[in-house]
Amino acid sequence: MDLAVLERLVSGEGWGLLESLPPYDESSAMSLGERLREAGFDADLVAGALTQSRLRARGRDKFGDFAAGMLFTADGLEQATRLDVAARHAERFRRAGVRHVWDLGCGIGSDAMAFAGLDLRVSAVDSDPATALVAGVNLRHWPSASTLVGSVEQTRLPAGEGARHAGAWLDPARRLPGVADGMGRTRRVFRLDAISPSWATVQQVAASLPAVGAKLSPAFPHASVPAGCEAQWTSYRGEVVECVVWWGALVRRSGRSAQVIGSDGRAATVTEADVTAEIPPLPGLDALGHVLYEPDRAVIRAGLTGAVSAEVDGAELDPGVGYVTSERTRELPFARRFVVEDAMPWGVKRLRAHLRDRGVGRVTIKKRGVTVDADQLRRQLHLSGDREATLVITRVAGRQVVLVVRPS
Ligand SMILES: C[S@@+](CC[C@H](N)C(=O)[O-])C[C@H]1O[C@@H](n2cnc3c(N)ncnc32)[C@H](O)[C@@H]1O
Repeated sequence: MDLAVLERLVSGEGWGLLESLPPYDESSAMSLGERLREAGFDADLVAGALTQSRLRARGRDKFGDFAAGMLFTADGLEQATRLDVAARHAERFRRAGVRHVWDLGCGIGSDAMAFAGLDLRVSAVDSDPATALVAGVNLRHWPSASTLVGSVEQTRLPAGEGARHAGAWLDPARRLPGVADGMGRTRRVFRLDAISPSWATVQQVAASLPAVGAKLSPAFPHASVPAGCEAQWTSYRGEVVECVVWWGALVRRSGRSAQVIGSDGRAATVTEADVTAEIPPLPGLDALGHVLYEPDRAVIRAGLTGAVSAEVDGAELDPGVGYVTSERTRELPFARRFVVEDAMPWGVKRLRAHLRDRGVGRVTIKKRGVTVDADQLRRQLHLSGDREATLVITRVAGRQVVLVVRPS
């Protein structure tokens, strides 16, 4: 959003206009805009206020009720950490004894709000003046938080004794544009050499302060985890949202870990120490157990499927596919459990006959390690019947198979 419009929006008249708007409703936004212009408000200000109103409605997903009092930029909202995840970042800083956090590349200030909310002093820096202005508005309730327009590279961080209780948080922007994923959605591409501030800058900051965290893409390569750091992949309600690299006092256990935040808000953590044995591969379909575990995606991204197999004394269906089979039934907060009803080598004809005989009219299709077009498969199956089934199409011992499973 244009800086000049934002500056007017945070002025008396603009803020008054924004606060007077009813809850956003797409169907009446145009007529509302017309009425406001007829009432004498400037067209740019009305457009800016309606944009903010729309972004606030969209921001509810990440910020809940807080969104109604916040300002956004469209990019800033998209890149912002959701508040429940930001609160966990902040808690880690607080527990490590950090009192002053430098949020370097603060965006609209989501993480900064979480730090300030835990009574940490916050210096939030962003190179984009409009974004920094928005962050300043979002941090207005906390006098211990200040916002600066500037680059990370030029920011003078505390040193010596002054750095003793200081920490830094970085959430670099991804400079590559998104690519379409074939479903019309855009997926932001991650390359470590295409983030801003750069990975080299992040590491320089990490070397200069006793407690530093950097939020990176879930595609962060395992080989790039710096020695002595903790790299933690986090999923929120099943979606992997970040990989944070923690340095210094913020490291709980060095190496890779996964944090799984469920829909009840509770989190389970898995670390490399939970992988107590090498994960055995399944020799063939005959050896399949009656239970199938689907590790959370954060666990898979962190390369910790072995923690699931260790818990249930299981085997992985095929190296790297991430499904674990076992005869043991255990409740794991970081894996979904299914009962295996049937298993067969892959073949559409055989599967169609199998489902027809059982009156299955609807299927949920899960696939890993194979290329199958789920929509095309559904058409080929000519399903009819009242029953539902879940199909897992994957590999066992290098061969494509289909398992018919039921959540348990
Ligand atoms: C992913 S966003 C941060 C989001 C933020 N953590 C939040 O949850 O709201 C990254 C921000 O870094 C800023 N940025 C990128 N390169 C920068 C640099 N070299 N110096 C300062 N800010 C920078 C961008 O303007 C952008 O607002």
